[in-house]
Amino acid sequence: MKKIAVLTSGGDAPGMNAAIRAIMRVASRKGVEVYGIYDGYTGLVNGKIEKLKNIDVSEILSRGGTILGSSRLPEFKEDQVQMQAINQLKERGIEGLIVIGGDGTYRGALELSQKGICCVGIPGTIDNDINGTDETIGFHTALYNIVDAVNKLRDTSSSHHRCFVIEVMGNHKDSLALYSGIACGSEFIITKNTGYDEDYIIQMMDYYEKQQGKKHAIIIASEKMIDVEKLAERISKETHFSGRSIVLGHIQRGGSPVPQDRILASQMGQYAVELLLNHQSGYCVCKKDNHIVARKIEDALNDVSEIQERMYQLFNELV
Ligand code: F6P
Repeated sequence: MKKIAVLTSGGDAPGMNAAIRAIMRVASRKGVEVYGIYDGYTGLVNGKIEKLKNIDVSEILSRGGTILGSSRLPEFKEDQVQMQAINQLKERGIEGLIVIGGDGTYRGALELSQKGICCVGIPGTIDNDINGTDETIGFHTALYNIVDAVNKLRDTSSSHHRCFVIEVMGNHKDSLALYSGIACGSEFIITKNTGYDEDYIIQMMDYYEKQQGKKHAIIIASEKMIDVEKLAERISKETHFSGRSIVLGHIQRGGSPVPQDRILASQMGQYAVELLLNHQSGYCVCKKDNHIVARKIEDALNDVSEIQERMYQLFNELV
């Protein structure tokens, strides 16, 4: 294989640049040319493809986002759109493709590999919601961003006797809420696995205040679970805390990647090149029990996501 390409797709994630850099560095050492595809699958279909030079990946390791740009392209499910993408690669003699993104990105890669393009996936999403891998690129930075924000909110919470109801990202997965709940020492987390009993939360707020003498309270809710503003209003009306709500939003997704994400991305980028050069199409790179391994994309997508029972137990024992 003499020419390969890389694209980033879906929500950007800190560490994607580290993966692009690793792919470029490792491949060019082996005499393989690397092409950057700009703006995800949209750029692939439209031919926004350029040969990368070593200098293009210099000084990007510490940068958040993705130098290649990203997009979401629901139409990529259509055969005809996929064929356009394949033609763009063939016209340029590109024999292998690495895609970095979440499960939507993986589905596109699976289709391409079933149509004869040698394709490998790398998990890049802050949500940590890709089955088959214990960690995704960007998760640790997003977690750091949440902890940093909650530390600041806690100062006001303690000073003003307030309860903050904080919405974090994660799509439908609970990892960001669960891990940040543990790391921030929140009083409650609300995820699809905890369920939501509003009356119980109100009752417990009084308990924390009267019995435990707490001056602050932090509630972390996964997005798409509750209306954080309404809960904060009810806390103000029915407890001694004054309630405030905040949606952390895209602040969580930005910024310089933490070392864990840079290292994970570098390991995964290197491994993805090896898979491609061994013609192992339709695979994704995973981290399992501290080892970088390959799994069939189909198997990873069809895995049932595990409920993180021990982490929930830990959270409950720490409150
Ligand atoms: O997948 C990453 C993510 O940030 C999710 O946590 C969130 O649900 C979604 O993307 C937001 O998408 P957008 O940036 O398109 O608003």
